[in-house]
Amino acid sequence: MSLHDEHHFVSAYDDGSGIDAADPRTSITAETIEEMRQIVARYPEPRSALLPMLHLVQSVDGRISDAGVRACADVLGISTAQVNGVATFYSMYKRQPAGEHHIGVCTTTLCAVMGGDVLLGQMKQKLGIDEDETTPDGKFSLERLECNAACDFAPVMMVNWEFMDRMTPEKASELIDNLAAGREVRSTRGARLTSWREAERVLAGFPDGRADEGPTAGPASLEGLRIAREKGWKVPEPPTAPQLEEGPSK
Ligand code: FES
Repeated sequence: MSLHDEHHFVSAYDDGSGIDAADPRTSITAETIEEMRQIVARYPEPRSALLPMLHLVQSVDGRISDAGVRACADVLGISTAQVNGVATFYSMYKRQPAGEHHIGVCTTTLCAVMGGDVLLGQMKQKLGIDEDETTPDGKFSLERLECNAACDFAPVMMVNWEFMDRMTPEKASELIDNLAAGREVRSTRGARLTSWREAERVLAGFPDGRADEGPTAGPASLEGLRIAREKGWKVPEPPTAPQLEEGPSK
């Protein structure tokens, strides 16, 4: 069959990984639509609201649902194809239901060298699932992550987008056991872990009051600042206006 057959279009990228339009399950309500409108009201251009709106869809449906795509398109006055294009571009948007707790393991260079691949293998074994899969009870999903810009704390894992720094197989195993038992778990940076859906709601711009739990930067990230203060190093003064007018020195 030709790609340009009059009645049948066969995608060259038909790998079955798009938004599942055949799955009608949704929990989106009139209240969700109202919250979408609240998000839109924060931006000068309505379509700028699409990314947080998609996070809101995930907080309600646990994935990017077809109903969520249509709701975003309706509220923004754009096509479902445009919404789909964004939702399938970014890896934070899930096409299959994520677990109550979404586990990410960084395996980019520094984390890999420091044990990220071992951690990912261990998580697969412990949870009994592969990457991009969810446990049958819906409790956990697993993802291989690219660099989280936390290389100074390698190897890094994420739980519901919160950092778990300098992980070891022992700490990772204990983390999963505690989450499975419903015990309170904190990020190594202080914040109490919520569910993935609750974290998604925060990313949609509805705060849960936990933003200030724990430090925003750990000692490893601040080491350069500590040394600079100790040695009295200062940022050079910017050139004055006349120097700028003179142009580059020869
Ligand atoms: S390589 Fe893992 S956080 Fe950068």
